[in-house]
Amino acid sequence: MVLEAIRYKRGSLEILNQLKLPHQEVYDAVRSAEDGWHAIKEMRTRGAPAIAIVAALALAVELQNTKTSDQAEEVAVFIVEKLDYLVTSRPTAVNLADAARKLKKIVESSARADGSDGATVSRAYCDAAAQMLIADVADNQGIGKYGAEWIVKQAGGGQVSILTHCNTGSLATAGYGTALGVVRSLHANSSLKRAFCTETRPYNQGSRLTAFELVHDDIPATLVTDSMASALLRLKGPSENIAAIVVGADRVAANGDTANKIGTCQLAITAKHHGVKFLVAAPRTTIDLDTKSGAEITIEERPGKEMTMIKGPRFDGVDLDLNQPETVSIAAKGIDVWNPAFDVTPADLIDGIITEIGVVEKGDDGRFDLTIAREAHH
Ligand code: MRU
Repeated sequence: MVLEAIRYKRGSLEILNQLKLPHQEVYDAVRSAEDGWHAIKEMRTRGAPAIAIVAALALAVELQNTKTSDQAEEVAVFIVEKLDYLVTSRPTAVNLADAARKLKKIVESSARADGSDGATVSRAYCDAAAQMLIADVADNQGIGKYGAEWIVKQAGGGQVSILTHCNTGSLATAGYGTALGVVRSLHANSSLKRAFCTETRPYNQGSRLTAFELVHDDIPATLVTDSMASALLRLKGPSENIAAIVVGADRVAANGDTANKIGTCQLAITAKHHGVKFLVAAPRTTIDLDTKSGAEITIEERPGKEMTMIKGPRFDGVDLDLNQPETVSIAAKGIDVWNPAFDVTPADLIDGIITEIGVVEKGDDGRFDLTIAREAHH
């Protein structure tokens, strides 16, 4: 069965509540832009592409289920205001802002068209939002294909092992995944020896979500803590010989600097030290040419309790009750906490950026030119 994080049909949107995974698979109904904003803010839906698509579709179902004005201009203003509001949910991933910008353009031009009324504008918006869901899956399959081919070629053929970080799979996208799409594609081609995934402290996207997806798809996989990455890269055994670290991205700046889940940069540093390839897998919607370098990227800081508390099923040594999530403290009371959700990996530590149209490598000047990849998307 294909793992579905976003279930959409005209007038209805449901998201797989990621706070309850891996213990329970519960779908939450999203009926409005407000519902969508809360689902994103509360981390029930996560991952840069998924955030953008859920936001866009949340507003689509609101429009489909509410009586809007007959006036094209009024509906366009309503949509633009809701999109501006949705963009405030989380700051680091660019996909949502990018989707909002494209959707605004569509509604504004629909409102200007001859004979346009409120229903026309609303329909133009909903069609474009639904198309984003379809396009993201196709983009991820392209990323998977190009990434897998590149890695196998670099490794000289045969089977490879991969290390990945955070969650970049079906749960973080419309389906298939970006970095995890590369893992899926390697596996589908019988080119994957083993996938290693980090736990991804402090929010545990790796152990809760990526591990869940790998088990779900029956992909040979091993979980490690974030602090084990360097030790893993030293191993040269039959399945522990890591050919590449592949991660996703929340925003790729024009120079290739990449914001992604906290812990990504230290993986790139250890990859460089051990001579292992370090790749970023992201659709072109994640490339932000307006952001010149990583220094300009706003990094979301999250509540300290995400580090000091841990949530899990109750386990008293006798009875494991998976329906009783419980929060326990794992840090000294009163300690100050710094909890940035993302970090920036400098472009010089990145060997390639895998997009749906191919792998972008550095030119002879040692720099990425992302202009061509990004502009081809407009
Ligand atoms: O804070 P989250 O869980 O939304 O962070 C998710 C990540 O950082 C992903 O690795 C990133 O969005 C890439 S998604 C394909």
